[in-house]
Amino acid sequence: MLGGTVRSSAESNDGLHGKAHKEGEVCWGLHSQTLLPEAARELCRVVLCVFLRGGISCLVVQQSNNPLDDLSAGMNQLELELSKAVISDDPFLNQIAGHLIGAGGKRLRPRLTLQAALSVRETIDERVLLGGVAVELVHLASLHHDDVMDEASSRRGVESVNARWGNLIAVVTGDYLLARAAGIAARLGKEVAELLADTLADMCQGQLLEVKSGYDLSRTLESYLLAISGKTASLMATSCRIGALVSDASPATSNLLGELGHCVGMIFQLRDDIFDLFASQEELGKVPGQDLIEGVYTLPVILALTDSPLREELASTLNDPAKVVETNVVRELLLSTSALSDSVTHINHYQNRANELADQLGTSSSRSIASLADDLVRSVDELIERGVSPLAS
Ligand code: IPE
Ligand code: IPE
Ligand code: MG
Ligand code: MG
Repeated sequence: MLGGTVRSSAESNDGLHGKAHKEGEVCWGLHSQTLLPEAARELCRVVLCVFLRGGISCLVVQQSNNPLDDLSAGMNQLELELSKAVISDDPFLNQIAGHLIGAGGKRLRPRLTLQAALSVRETIDERVLLGGVAVELVHLASLHHDDVMDEASSRRGVESVNARWGNLIAVVTGDYLLARAAGIAARLGKEVAELLADTLADMCQGQLLEVKSGYDLSRTLESYLLAISGKTASLMATSCRIGALVSDASPATSNLLGELGHCVGMIFQLRDDIFDLFASQEELGKVPGQDLIEGVYTLPVILALTDSPLREELASTLNDPAKVVETNVVRELLLSTSALSDSVTHINHYQNRANELADQLGTSSSRSIASLADDLVRSVDELIERGVSPLAS
């Protein structure tokens, strides 16, 4: 960390924990040498951050074509490319477009792109990095839009874009990020551009299906799985597939990597939904129970509503807004059923498939992707072991 102003790339890229910048930090625009020593790379990151938040006009730094041979070097370089990708000649737009980038996040989707690429080749080149940038930009746009839909007040530990600048600006800047992603995808070729456009359509359909199912006590398992597959797993599948495509992987390998990304995405959203219901505010970093309040009935609720003796009591509780706001009431009911352990059975299905796919791919990078799935599942197991008692909140 240099001067204490920007989080280090190691912090920003380490596994599951996205970190936030403090207010007033951030960047200039430039580009860096790929194989710069760490101190110089850190300087470049600081420069980029100053540019993005401060709207200082663009600096030009040399681009290197040297290939990167490991994931963490690739992720460092990706940070620079990502910041560069959203720079325009409007300082206000730069500030907003850079807001969530500067705030942290786990960079999970570009990490999948880089890992998928490293599963088929030894090095990360510019095309792989741009593939990673494109998927993170689509993700960022979906966060802008999702926070408008949810009327969320915070994201990545900072004020959400809608809370700070209003819904209109959050939507338009989300569209701007999508436009930048589309431009990058077009540079990567027709196949990548088509795939990303189709994925965006899947994400919209998934979100719409979720909205349509709002407050629906008869929401089915199939409809739920379809919604989370569209809104979340489709982009993770595409993140892996793009890593394969820009690395000229065979169609068979691309399919395996795509399915591996899909499994990680399904587990990711299932975990997110379970945590929203059962984790404490401290663990979650936001108020739990938001899905229930918004009428989004996720897997444990659906299972308990379909198949438990408490079905009717749960249904009438969910119909009573005063009880829903008191999240513990629903939690307590759910904990008196097998909904949580049945949900874990669903998660285990995707985990087993992820591990089978990694075995078929037979590379250490694909194994790392499957271990990400294992880590996500472990965090659910640990939540349950800690005891998701109604008093936990
Ligand atoms: C949040 O995704 C949205 C969901 C799909 C649940 P992440 O948890 O990957 O968000 P960041 O990128 O780390 O902020
Ligand atoms: C959002 O899922 C998926 C996106 C495409 C952004 P959620 O609605 O569960 O994400 P959070 O919980 O708000 O981060
Ligand atoms: Mg949301
Ligand atoms: Mg959620």
